[in-house]
Amino acid sequence: MKDIFFCPEESNFYSNCLETFVLKNCSHSDSIVEFGSGDGSPMINSLLKTKFDAVIHGFELNTSAWKLANSKIDEYNLAHKYKIYNSCLFNSSKPQAEYLVANPPYLPASDPDIYMPLLFGGVDGATVTNNLLSLGYKNVLLLVSSFSNPISTIKRAEEKNYFVQKFMVLPLRFGYYSSEPKVKKHIESLRKKKMAFCSTNYYFLAGVLFKKCQESAINLSNELVKVMTSL
Ligand SMILES: C[S@@+](CC[C@H](N)C(=O)[O-])C[C@H]1O[C@@H](n2cnc3c(N)ncnc32)[C@H](O)[C@@H]1O
Repeated sequence: MKDIFFCPEESNFYSNCLETFVLKNCSHSDSIVEFGSGDGSPMINSLLKTKFDAVIHGFELNTSAWKLANSKIDEYNLAHKYKIYNSCLFNSSKPQAEYLVANPPYLPASDPDIYMPLLFGGVDGATVTNNLLSLGYKNVLLLVSSFSNPISTIKRAEEKNYFVQKFMVLPLRFGYYSSEPKVKKHIESLRKKKMAFCSTNYYFLAGVLFKKCQESAINLSNELVKVMTSL
């Protein structure tokens, strides 16, 4: 279990975002692609609370997490709704879907040699997040961390013609993974360059629903920038 992502507060927040921003608004014909399903519990918990009836295609590279997710999916009889592949979405033939959803790896560090290398988000922490905004999905729900160059993510979204449709924010205490000295020191260096926004003990995690631009849509990106840079 030690090598499977474990942070109930963060996973519950992701599950809550999935439920309110995605599953409750989906129609029967919609499908969802999920990057980095972990042990599957966030999606399973929100599936159990909603009447979502279509299929979710999850991708999880960590084999232990993938196995655990599949046993939970069987336990709850959700195999017809939630299928997880032990592979990387970027290297696969991408399934078509209305939504792409992820709580992506977002830890910044000089290199991936950290407690859990699969949580490495690139040198500024935003690389995987920003790459997910380049895959062309119409609606993208992402958790965005205030210490992982959030401004670059909002810029990438604009370049790719997304607007911020909805967001919610959770203040989180630095946890086991983000308090690793190598990671924390790196975050401090990013903070000095205005690429990370946090206090000594806290950062913000935002659940953001990006949508491909529509005329007359209200774009909340300025509000999101204000919140994410306020620590
Ligand atoms: C922050 S964790 C989120 C896990 C789960 N969604 C949750 O919220 O509890 C990120 C997950 O992405 C997985 N991951 C990292 N890189 C990946 C990749 N290229 N393809 C698929 N999964 C990946 C990690 O193994 C990890 O389980």
